[in-house]
Amino acid sequence: MMFAKKAEFVVSNTDLKYLPEPNKPEYAFIGRSNVGKSSLINCLCNNKRLAKTSSTPGKTQLINHFMIDDEWYLVDLPGYGYTKTPLHVKRKWENFTRNYLRSRENLMCVFLLIDCRHKPQKIDLDFMTWLGENQIPFVITFTKIDKLSSSQLQKNVKAYSSKLYESWEFLPRIFKTSAENKVGNEEIFGFVKETNKMF
Ligand code: GTP
Ligand code: MG
Repeated sequence: MMFAKKAEFVVSNTDLKYLPEPNKPEYAFIGRSNVGKSSLINCLCNNKRLAKTSSTPGKTQLINHFMIDDEWYLVDLPGYGYTKTPLHVKRKWENFTRNYLRSRENLMCVFLLIDCRHKPQKIDLDFMTWLGENQIPFVITFTKIDKLSSSQLQKNVKAYSSKLYESWEFLPRIFKTSAENKVGNEEIFGFVKETNKMF
């Protein structure tokens, strides 16, 4: 099993002025609230307490920077789409998250997390469209694959791909992960290592 050898919390922000210097390649993790972002980050870092996880949605409310292996930044972003968050709070998060994604010069790729159990959701598809419009590279990362049988997973991934082909000529890379069973780390680290070469 592959993990980060070293993972350190750097800083939490809502103010883009105070982000770390963009001197290392950076990867942002985003997705619906409760999709398993923080859990996946902890799995990659083999540290259960690094990013705060919770069964209550809306736990991550800041842009959180982690330094991995002294080589790259991993960023935990607030989840979107949690209906109980007050609208003005949601707007504020959405604003600073989108500003961050649009302006961060060292951002190599966004990991868009999708719960593998669900059918394609408009909010995720709209977010991909927005990423495309803003020319922000992204990959899709299915989470919680331990919750499905392998045949059901295959079926869901296929259905998701078909949906994407309705609006995309090429599909992004797709990762399948489980923070519970520690599945997917090798593929993600391999991808990051390759992509870092372009920094
Ligand atoms: P917010 O920060 O609130 O937006 O949520 P998040 O996307 O960071 O999700 P978080 O990692 O806090 O996980 C949400 C819930 O899903 C927790 O109860 C986790 O234990 C559970 N969970 C996360 N990943 C997995 C997984 O791979 N398998 C299973 N079975 N449960 C998971
Ligand atoms: Mg979180």
